[in-house]
Amino acid sequence: MGFRRKIVAGNWKMNNTLSEALSLVDGILTNLDASTTTEVILCPAAPLLSALDSHTKNLPKIKLGAQNCSEHVSGAYTGEVSAAMVKSVGCDYVIIGHSERRMCFNENNKQLAEKIKRALENNLSPIFCIGEKKEEREKNIHFNLVKTQITEVLQNFSAKELDKLILAYEPVWAIGTGLTATTQQAQEMHAFIRKVLEETFGKLFADKTPILYGGSCNAQNAKDLFACDDVDGGLIGGASLKASDFCSIINSF
Ligand code: 13P
Repeated sequence: MGFRRKIVAGNWKMNNTLSEALSLVDGILTNLDASTTTEVILCPAAPLLSALDSHTKNLPKIKLGAQNCSEHVSGAYTGEVSAAMVKSVGCDYVIIGHSERRMCFNENNKQLAEKIKRALENNLSPIFCIGEKKEEREKNIHFNLVKTQITEVLQNFSAKELDKLILAYEPVWAIGTGLTATTQQAQEMHAFIRKVLEETFGKLFADKTPILYGGSCNAQNAKDLFACDDVDGGLIGGASLKASDFCSIINSF
């Protein structure tokens, strides 16, 4: 990966109350290598963002991301959170299109394109998630499926508009299952994703855009995964909830 940014993001999902979140952040600060050059992004649930922003304001190494934002600008959408709100409480990033959002909340590619538009309008970096289900890999349609996820969502943007984009390859069969992709499976798919980016947006864009791996990435396997040429870091679920494990992952480059 060499010249690209190194990024480790923790997706806390629907875990941690405010007091638990503050202790986790303190644990991360205690364990974090002060000389790390890795971008560290914490993605707590939306109600915790403002307090965590105050708690981490003087820590340039720790950035905040939301787990989702609405495709709408504002208005009568009870329970939803807008990109502008997320930005206003200190986020620089927002996860878009996580497989749990696609599966549990029926988010589709058209909607995800709108969410990315809202994120970019608010100067947020979208962490756009893609990845196949187990049965799609078994049918050997995983490459085509991932290509469709990328092109259908990103086709109407220019490379310039997507300057802040981060991609996260998260094979659904690896999420929360302990079944991590092998380094060969991860590298092969990441290289393919970079090729799709090159065909769609040109080589410069493909070469600089970070592609993270997610799915049972942990303190034991992160080093091997991050050593793959086209893996630029990780989007971490379960292992991001334990400070020592998360920091080991951050130190795995
Ligand atoms: P796990 O690391 O728990 O498998 O979750 C990955 C994920 O979904 C991150 O977004």
